[in-house]
Amino acid sequence: MSKATLLSVKSITKKFGGLVALNNVNITVYEGEILGLIGPNGAGKTTLFNVISGVYKPEGGRVFFDSVDITRKPPHQITRMGIARTHQIVKPFNEMTVLENTMIGALFGRLASRITMGEARKKALETLEFVGLIDNADAPASKLTLHEKKTLELARALAAEPKLLLLDEELAGLNPKEIEESLNLIKQAKDEKELTIIMVEHVMHAVMNIAERIVVLHHGEKIAEGTPMEIANTPRVIEAYLGEKELALKFVKKLKPQK
Ligand SMILES: Nc1ncnc2c1ncn2[C@@H]1O[C@H](COP(=O)(O)OP(=O)(O)OP(=O)(O)O)[C@@H](O)[C@H]1O
Ligand SMILES: [Mg+2]
Repeated sequence: MSKATLLSVKSITKKFGGLVALNNVNITVYEGEILGLIGPNGAGKTTLFNVISGVYKPEGGRVFFDSVDITRKPPHQITRMGIARTHQIVKPFNEMTVLENTMIGALFGRLASRITMGEARKKALETLEFVGLIDNADAPASKLTLHEKKTLELARALAAEPKLLLLDEELAGLNPKEIEESLNLIKQAKDEKELTIIMVEHVMHAVMNIAERIVVLHHGEKIAEGTPMEIANTPRVIEAYLGEKELALKFVKKLKPQK
């Protein structure tokens, strides 16, 4: 059976003045997969998320979601269609409670046009229970630790009931135990909520283990695409990003044996 395409990024070019942040990038994302998006700082990963979510309009190319051209649609409309994201730099509304922050996800998400405040509250509470932040529901977001703030970003995105979830460095700044907890949560969310996920990540052993396929960006160009094993053995990726072959092989060794 062939896999259904959920998102198609076609020949996207995004410039900031003279800087070409994305140069003719093509990516297909299949329904139900976790796609890892990796590459050095400044490669264009967050810019691609901003193009997909409608924050930036590209100079060239098109983005199709569920076969609909979303390239020129405003962000709120794209969220309603079923794309939610987390931000690399966490930005909760600090003065609002954890529950209120999560309700925003539900109120602006897939059900935005027909959800009541009561239903949004219920959805937010369920989501906080799911991610393990329920005990903090009434605390102001400013009181959370970094790990909890990252989890709140995830909760807000999940409360929108997306089909496609864009995770921008969800694991950055976390300690190994927190990384493991977050990875388990992401896997559980994917399975229980039938999500498709694009995951931007610098924590290599994590993304190499959780993603089924990896795309590598470098200077705004896609330089490689393949299974984690293929990527860790691609000389151009080792040279541009992974550093030494020995280091790349370490990630391979940590990989589960391939069936
Ligand atoms: N709003 C903007 N205005 C001008 N330049 C920008 C803007 N956003 C991004 N850039 C530039 O575009 C390039 C790609 O940036 P981007 O944030 O997409 O990289 P990234 O791959 O997410 O990097 P990192 O791993 O550090 O988060 C960089 O050179 C960055 O300085
Ligand atoms: Mg980034």
